[in-house]
Amino acid sequence: MSDVVTLERQGAIAVVRVNNPPVNALGIAVREGLQDSFKAAEADPQVKAIVLVCEGSTFIAGADIKEFGKPPKSPGLPEVVSGIEAGSKPSVAVIHGTALGGGLEVAVSCHYRIALKSAKVGLPEVKLGLLPGAGGTQRLPRLVGVEKALDMIVSGNPISASEALELGVIDELVDGDLTAAGIAFAEKLIADGKGARRTGERTDKLDGIDNAALVAAKRAEVEKKTPGLFSPQRCISAVEASFTLPLEEGLKRERELFGECLVSPQRSALVHAFFTERLASKIDDLPKDTPVREINSAAVIGGGTMGVGIALCFANVGIPVKILEVSDEAMDKAMERCRDTYMMSVKRGSLTEDAMNKRLTLVEGVTDYADLSGVDLVVEAVFEEMGVKQKVFEALDTHCKPGAILASNTSSLDLNQIAEFTKRPQDVVGLHFFSPANVMRLLEVVRGEKTANDVLATAMAIGKKLKKVAVPVGVCDGFVGNRMVFQYGRESEFLLEEGATPAQVDGALRKFGMAMGPFAMRDLSGLDIGLSIRTRQRQTLPAEFKLPTILDKMAAAGMLGQKTGKGFYVYEKGSRTPLNNPELPAILEAASKEQGIERRELTDEYILERTLFALINEGAKILEEGIAQRSSDIDVIYINGYGFPAHQGGPMFYADSLGLDHVYNRICEFHKQHGAWWKPAPLLEKLAKEGRKFADL
Ligand code: 3HC
Ligand code: NAI
Repeated sequence: MSDVVTLERQGAIAVVRVNNPPVNALGIAVREGLQDSFKAAEADPQVKAIVLVCEGSTFIAGADIKEFGKPPKSPGLPEVVSGIEAGSKPSVAVIHGTALGGGLEVAVSCHYRIALKSAKVGLPEVKLGLLPGAGGTQRLPRLVGVEKALDMIVSGNPISASEALELGVIDELVDGDLTAAGIAFAEKLIADGKGARRTGERTDKLDGIDNAALVAAKRAEVEKKTPGLFSPQRCISAVEASFTLPLEEGLKRERELFGECLVSPQRSALVHAFFTERLASKIDDLPKDTPVREINSAAVIGGGTMGVGIALCFANVGIPVKILEVSDEAMDKAMERCRDTYMMSVKRGSLTEDAMNKRLTLVEGVTDYADLSGVDLVVEAVFEEMGVKQKVFEALDTHCKPGAILASNTSSLDLNQIAEFTKRPQDVVGLHFFSPANVMRLLEVVRGEKTANDVLATAMAIGKKLKKVAVPVGVCDGFVGNRMVFQYGRESEFLLEEGATPAQVDGALRKFGMAMGPFAMRDLSGLDIGLSIRTRQRQTLPAEFKLPTILDKMAAAGMLGQKTGKGFYVYEKGSRTPLNNPELPAILEAASKEQGIERRELTDEYILERTLFALINEGAKILEEGIAQRSSDIDVIYINGYGFPAHQGGPMFYADSLGLDHVYNRICEFHKQHGAWWKPAPLLEKLAKEGRKFADL
């Protein structure tokens, strides 16, 4: 047997044990080990039943994603899985942690399944641009019916063990020692005279239902929700085969469709997104043994939009948090906002009232800095003015205990300057949350010049604890995300001056996969924010850096976005649906005329180049300056904070996939046509000329 899969016999029960840290992925050694172990158990006349159990924190979490794109090695998972199901002795999978993808496919090829109550099961392949390729699309519908199987496979979302029990995916919930529970269950099977029970042979959940109608409805839903995605429609086709073809042919069809997904560019982009999200938490120059400070309590200064959201992040994971405001009245308002925000989740059904009340007991409003003397971490989220921040950090320095981490949520001010307001700049770090802070996954962890290693390590760890995707960044105006988005927003507005409409620009970027177009986004956040940045920039920018004037014109006409019911689009009262703004064309035409531009038709392709290449060029500058430690970190920021489509891999991955020479050449043309903003990043020029990619750095 192999090192990663062992076989032992306990009485009449063979125990097959997988031990392949960190997540028992089904690499070649595990596949061989499983196949050999099940064959040996089948051949052993003393064995009456087989138990499959995993070591470590989880059951098998799926195929080994690192093997994708490499030459396949035999035995493949479909063969292993079919072998397990074909066995004549009853087999039991004991699930803890997660049984995902190939892991669940192995489990459903076993004849019975038991699980800890805390376990989850699912087929998340679609999130990697794939479909379940080892029988999942054929066996899950036979277990739970086509409707539920389609839901699980097309969404990729796991379900809890309790739901799995209700659906019949799991036979029994157990607790205590996994092996003992598996053996007890297997011994009962033997005592009850129960034999092999093969999912693949069942048809009861497929019969008598209009499965074709379910498939048609799912196709229409997917076409509407995610029109540009490659794998979801193929997931549906594979499930369709479960009721239109016999098992063997269905499995063949699944294999073909899996192969199509495997070679699709979206699959490599999504796998890139998966691994780089994990890579982002690793800081190259931070020693592995850097200690982490304990964070058992927190405080937030300022209970406005961000402060409340940040406070809820702590309460959500059980960390008591104080919100400090300027007055009792402001503090009461902040506490009210906490409750209101939670109430929205209660109304949506994603939070129970009990859970809300429990969380609210963790949030305390205060007005006196002396109340913060015991907290381990403070996040400042007051007005974006250096003078205000100075007063806050001086007060924190006076009142917080030694070793407390002092963080700022500033989105554009100089963190190094803020750190110097204290006598402990080594304890100061940026925690740049995104709005709404309790929802958005991204957290830029800003490393100041003097931030101590253990403070940085703690900030990254607390990000993970808060269930955020924490990405380290350096100090500069806008850090990574906002610095790049400024380029993108500006170019979008220039496109309006040149002849495009907001709907056309938003439409092209939505078709590319962006969660929202830049103009719908501007309307949502309010035009005044962009305008105030512009006004500040006009005072400092050299003359050759022109700025569009559309925001100024719109603000003068009272169009500030959703909050005024009118912006790049108009909104009916109480609605967030963007409708054509009939007053806008006159403003756009006036802006074009003022700039001496003859309005023209712009293609979607051109719109993508002007907006996305602006992101990429700035990303290259950011990389060169060391503000981001690797190009993939920029991708992670864009996917998790700015709605960049994961199936395009992020802006830097997208640039690599287009070829940097092409991107560089187009940027050179834009530089000639549109001037200073488009000066190519020296790093981009260098890589393009050397025929290299950002990923090669
Ligand atoms: N293959 C290879 N490595 C994997 C992996 C996999 N399927 N799943 C996780 N890992 C690695 C991660 O890259 C990470 O490595 P690192 O420590 O070097 O960064 C390590 O395992 C731990 O992962 P997480 O940090 O994500 O650990 P968590 O405890 O937060 O989460 C998890 C565990 C829920 C299992 C999560 O890792 C996960 O969702 N994994 C992917 C599951 C998945 O997509 N499975 C389907 C694969 S495709 C498939 O099975 C095809 C089949 O149908 C043929
Ligand atoms: P806001 O105006 O909604 O809230 C600021 C709060 O701070 C107010 O409730 C105010 O009473 C309080 N406050 C002001 N001075 C204070 C003081 N001295 N002591 C205690 N409380 C004080 O502002 P918002 O939007 O929450 O922004 C806060 C910070 O977060 C800013 O630095 C901003 O740049 C940053 N940020 C904002 C984002 C956004 O989308 N709004 C996104 C990311 C960061």
